[in-house]
Amino acid sequence: MNPTTVPGGTPVLEPLPRLLYLRHSGTALLIDCSTGEPAVLHFGADLGPDLPDLSLLGDPVPPSSLDIPVTQGLIPQSSSGWRGRPGLRGHRNGRSFSARLRLVSVTEGEGCSAVITQSDPDAGLTLSTEIIINDGGLLQLRHRLQNDGPDGYSLEELAAVLPVGRAAGEILDLTGRWCREAHPQRLPMRQGTWVRSGRHGRTGHDSSLLLAAGTPGFGNRHGQVWAVHLGWSGNHESFVETIGDGRSVIGASELLGSGEVTLAAGTGYQTPWLFAAYSDAGLDGISDSFYAWFRARAHHPGTRSGKPRPVVLNVWEAVYFDHRLPTLLELADSAAALGVERYVLDDGWFRGRRDDHAGLGDWYVDEQLWPDGLHPLIDAVTAHGMEFGLWVEPEMVNEDSDLARAHPDWISGPGPLRQGPGAPGRLPEQWRHQQVLDLVNPEAWQYIFDRLDSLLSEHRISYLKWDQNRDLVEMGHEGSPSVHAQTLAAYRLLDELRKAHPGVEIESCSSGGARVDLGILERTDRVWASDCNDALERQTIQRWTGVVVPPELVGAHIGPGTSHTTARTHELSFRAITAMFGHFGLEWDVRQLGGAERDELAAVIALYKEHRSLLHSGRMVRADERDPSLMLHGVVSHDGSEALFALVSVATSFSEVPGHVPLPGLLPDQNYRVELAYPAPDSGHAFIQTRPPAWLAAGIEVSGRFLAGSGLPMPVLNPEHGLLLSVRAVPGPAGKGS
Ligand code: GLA
Repeated sequence: MNPTTVPGGTPVLEPLPRLLYLRHSGTALLIDCSTGEPAVLHFGADLGPDLPDLSLLGDPVPPSSLDIPVTQGLIPQSSSGWRGRPGLRGHRNGRSFSARLRLVSVTEGEGCSAVITQSDPDAGLTLSTEIIINDGGLLQLRHRLQNDGPDGYSLEELAAVLPVGRAAGEILDLTGRWCREAHPQRLPMRQGTWVRSGRHGRTGHDSSLLLAAGTPGFGNRHGQVWAVHLGWSGNHESFVETIGDGRSVIGASELLGSGEVTLAAGTGYQTPWLFAAYSDAGLDGISDSFYAWFRARAHHPGTRSGKPRPVVLNVWEAVYFDHRLPTLLELADSAAALGVERYVLDDGWFRGRRDDHAGLGDWYVDEQLWPDGLHPLIDAVTAHGMEFGLWVEPEMVNEDSDLARAHPDWISGPGPLRQGPGAPGRLPEQWRHQQVLDLVNPEAWQYIFDRLDSLLSEHRISYLKWDQNRDLVEMGHEGSPSVHAQTLAAYRLLDELRKAHPGVEIESCSSGGARVDLGILERTDRVWASDCNDALERQTIQRWTGVVVPPELVGAHIGPGTSHTTARTHELSFRAITAMFGHFGLEWDVRQLGGAERDELAAVIALYKEHRSLLHSGRMVRADERDPSLMLHGVVSHDGSEALFALVSVATSFSEVPGHVPLPGLLPDQNYRVELAYPAPDSGHAFIQTRPPAWLAAGIEVSGRFLAGSGLPMPVLNPEHGLLLSVRAVPGPAGKGS
């Protein structure tokens, strides 16, 4: 289709294309342009190259309704009879409340992409929509609304909305809290709207990383699924809606506060990207699309650095705020001896920071704690060949800080309320004894940029753990709501620092996993999925974070034997098997480890290094395991030549034995050797209750078809234990009967 541009202003129907049909990697989007309003007819499976005469496929007009068929617009509009959630809400002092957007141009671009422009000259609004279907099938969509009118337009909502296939009958999303992020919940689809709102000013521990609608009972590897994610770290909503005429949609939008976005004449607002995926093979197919998108990025960690994801030691749970150089040096020695490659100094190094009551904002190395600066530690760490990383929380300020004392007006809040201009503003309630720095204020932004820039310039820092530890409550800049602007200012801070220091990796942490989204991940290199290092909790947190985010971007650390956040105790093998399926590290005082435990930890680190290129490039496979006490997941290389699986017991089972557990996702006609990779049966780990099946000791050769169709008898695992299986393609027959 050739670009068709029509001078802005008057909607013109000709020579606009009648149809926009984007197809790529098994995903298709079909938009009928013939009526002058882009009507989204289909999002989902590829419909093939040949389409029927769409003019014959218009919807009937039901009784008691508008006299025209209701269009499901690219932006659903009540002016077209849409009685569901409108795609656009806004007004000019109460006027221009109902737009009637009509096509102006459709431009197909590079790859599988298009820009569609609509306008309503009477309302003074122009809307441009960019759509891309990426390799791997992940669709991206965002709108830009331009105010062409002479006065301000108050925007209340601009949503990205797509149709959901008729087969969908069940919703799945994720929710959580601190130390229990990314837990799934399901509910049946009914008429009405299921809305997940995030009003934290940050993404939120309870945010639904993925909102999916699928065929009832859809699983990890079966069923049709339509799923969306909004790449945004501020307030947001995602929703699934079924309206009275039976149509269902799925979508998301930035949740704007009252008066938060008023477009002055000639200005515009751009939505965050909506990421949407379709799969006819359950959630694993959705992950395939997201992973392909992540990994195709030029700045994807690993691709950018050309290095594998390093083994991390973060000192937080080892020392907390008790920063003493001798201890930290000992930790560096122990870490290096174990094979650690990146050492991260967490909270507590800057001026006045003895606990979490003071210091945020004063981004200078504390002269009392560190009389010689950070250099002695950094020199020791780098002399060991490890990278050095540093914790920062740039968007925050303690009231007890030099910064707050010098610039009390840099603290964000609702501002002068009824007292009138100039009156001191009320501050929001504190949260972890801290407030939010108003980064919309250019001076505050510049101060923070300069401090971080200096720290990075003056030290050999390869990595920042960038934390954000509170909700944005009553967030305001000069008396106006500013979550939107603050989110953009934080993004710009990250973007500018990355430009100035391109070699520095950044982790997004937010009291654990309260800022995991594709907006922040466009400018950071991994997320801290949770402050909970308890392996049992982590099994669920990582599995579900991993539906969207590939494991190389999900920090996963081995904590001490007894978890600091749950007081549960787990053997090293279970903790290691859990951390293995992420960006692996330690968060543990490893100085005191005894000989056997230290040797085993070193061996586990070596095992991770052996498998990390596979773990961080392959396809994630999650079995639909019937026994709720068991979880089986693995990573299979794209050519099907190797895999690493983990079988994990999260509880005691009803069944005496697990029976044959299928290992899906391998090439059916390929023969494989399956071996126990860890722990060894004679390692002293109490991971197996009884005599294991014979193959476990010797390994077995078996076809991918057998592994997926029948599976292997598994040992009776003790609860909260697991085992790792390595699977490698072998030539020749897979033994008798294969
Ligand atoms: C947050 C993070 C932790 C740790 C502390 C430091 O809670 O999630 O990992 O960095 O801050 O104060």
